[in-house]
Amino acid sequence: MSTAISPTAYNYKVVRQFAIMTVVWGILGMGLGVFIASQLVWPELNFGLPWTTFGRLRPLHTNLVIFAFGGCALFATSYYVVQRTCQTRLISDSLAAFTFWGWQAVIVGAIVTLPLGYTTTKEYAELEWPLAILLAIVWVTYGVVFFGTITKRKTKHIYVGNWFYGAFIVVTAMLHIVNHASLPVSFFKSYSAYAGATDAMIQWWYGHNAVGFFLTTGFLGMMYYFVPKQAERPIYSYRLSIVHFWALITLYIWAGPHHLHYTALPDWAQSLGMAMSIILLAPSWGGMINGMMTLSGAWHKLRTDPILRFLVVSLAFYGMSTFEGPMMAIKTVNSLSHYTDWTIGHVHAGALGWVAMISIGAIYHMIPKLYGRTQMHSIGLINTHFWLATIGTVLYIASMWVNGITQGLMWRAINDDGTLTYSFVEALQASHPGFIVRALGGAFFASGMLFMAYNVWRTVRASNPAEAEAAAKIAVVGAH
Ligand code: HEM
Ligand code: HEM
Repeated sequence: MSTAISPTAYNYKVVRQFAIMTVVWGILGMGLGVFIASQLVWPELNFGLPWTTFGRLRPLHTNLVIFAFGGCALFATSYYVVQRTCQTRLISDSLAAFTFWGWQAVIVGAIVTLPLGYTTTKEYAELEWPLAILLAIVWVTYGVVFFGTITKRKTKHIYVGNWFYGAFIVVTAMLHIVNHASLPVSFFKSYSAYAGATDAMIQWWYGHNAVGFFLTTGFLGMMYYFVPKQAERPIYSYRLSIVHFWALITLYIWAGPHHLHYTALPDWAQSLGMAMSIILLAPSWGGMINGMMTLSGAWHKLRTDPILRFLVVSLAFYGMSTFEGPMMAIKTVNSLSHYTDWTIGHVHAGALGWVAMISIGAIYHMIPKLYGRTQMHSIGLINTHFWLATIGTVLYIASMWVNGITQGLMWRAINDDGTLTYSFVEALQASHPGFIVRALGGAFFASGMLFMAYNVWRTVRASNPAEAEAAAKIAVVGAH
C-alpha cells in the first residue's frame, strides 16, 4: 500500500484488506454452498471420499459464510464506521493488523481441519480448541481496538451504529468463551465441559445468540451507518434506535431454547424461549421500520441507485425472517417445521436476504471511498448483481418452504391403524424438485458475487489509495 499515509488520516489499510477478503470468502463460501446443494441433488458429487462428503463440507460452508464472509464484512465496516463517526484513527495499527491476519489464520485453519474431520460437533462452534483459543485472542484484540478507538473519539456522543457493533463484539466474546469451555485430550480432540441437557442448552444459548448478535446486531450496526449515508437522509428516529437496541439485546439472550423444543430440556425453559422469541418480533421490526423510514423523501433514489436497493431489500428480508422466526418458535408450528427444509429456508432468508445483501451494499458503498474513486467501475453490473441476488434468494427460500411443509406433513401422516403413511425415502423423493430449484437459486446468488469481484477489481485497478487517505480529512494531528 502507499507509504503516503498522513498521521491524521484514518487507517483504511485494514478496512481495505477486510473488504477485499469479504468478496473472496463470499465467493468461496457461497460456491461451496452451491456445491453441497448440488450434492443433495446428485449424491455422486460426494465422490466417495471422506473429506468431500456433505457431512464434512456442510460445516465448512457455514464457517466460511458466517465467520469468513460475514465476519470480514463486520470487521471492515466496523473499523470504517468507528473511525468516521468518532473522527479519529484506530487506536493501534499493529493490533488492527493482528486482527486481520489472526482472523484469516482461523479461517485457513477451518479450511484445513473441517474436511479432515476434526470437529467438536457443536454447530457453528466446530473448531477444535487450538483454533478456538486463537479466535478468542483475536476477538479480544478486536474489542480492544474498537473500544479503544471509541475512548479517544473527537465527537461528543457515540453514534448508535457503534452501540450495535459494541454489543455484538462483547456478547460474541462471552458466547464463544463460555460455549468452548472444554477439556483437550489431544491436539485435535477435546470434550465439552458440560454434559447432557446442560450442554445442549449452553450450545443453543450460543447458537441462537450467534444469530442474534453475530448475524443480526452487528449487521444492524452496519445498517445504521450505511442506509442513512447511501440515502443521504438522517435516521428516521434516534429515539427508536435506542429503544429497540436495549429491547433487542435484553430479549435475544433468552430465546435459545426454541432450538430445543420437545427435547429433554425442562418444559418451562422451552416455553420461556418461545415467549421471548415471540416478543422479539417487536424490537426486530423496530430496527427494520427505522431503516425503511429513513428513506422517507428518498424513495425515488431506488430507481437509479442499485446500492440503495441492496440495502433496502436486505431490510425487507430482515423484516420477513424476523416475522417467520417468532412464528417457528411457537411449539405447535415448530412441531411441523423442525428438522425440515423450512428451517433451512428461514436460515437463508436471513443469511442471503439480510446478512449477505446488506454486506454487499455496504461494500459497494465503501470500495470507491477506500480507493479514492467517485463511484464503482460499473453501476450496470451492480444492478445485474442486485437482480441475480434477489431472484436467487427468492428461488432458494420459496423452494425450501414447499419442501419443508411437504416433509413435515408427510412425516406426520398416519394411517387409521397408526402406521406411518409415507416412508422417509418417499418424503426425500418428494423433496428432489425443491433441491434442484434451491441449487439453481444458489447458483444465481453465487454468480452475482463473481460480477461483484470483477467490478471491485476494475475499481481497485483504477484506484488511488493515497488520495483516499488524503480525502479522509480529520482535524486531529498525530492521532495514532
Ligand atoms: C449461494 C448461496 C448459498 C447456498 C447455495 C447455500 C446452500 C446451503 C446448503 C445446501 C445447506 C445445507 C442444508 C441442509 O443441510 O439441508 C446450507 C446450510 C447453511 N447455510 Fe447456506 N448457502 C448459501 C449461502 C449462505 C450464506 C451467505 C449464509 C450465511 C451468511 C449461509 C448460512 C448457512 C447456515 C447457517 C446453514 C446451516 C443451517 C441449519 O443448520 O439449519 N448460507 N447452505
Ligand atoms: C426474531 C427473530 C428470530 C427468531 C425468533 C428466530 C427463530 C428461529 C427458530 C424458531 C428456528 C428453528 C429452530 C429449530 O426448529 O431447530 C430458527 C432457526 C434458525 N434461524 Fe432464526 N429466528 C429469528 C431470526 C433469524 C435471523 C435474522 C437469522 C439470520 C440472519 C436467523 C438464522 C437462523 C439459523 C441459522 C437457524 C438454524 C439453526 C440451526 O438449527 O442450525 N434467524 N430461528
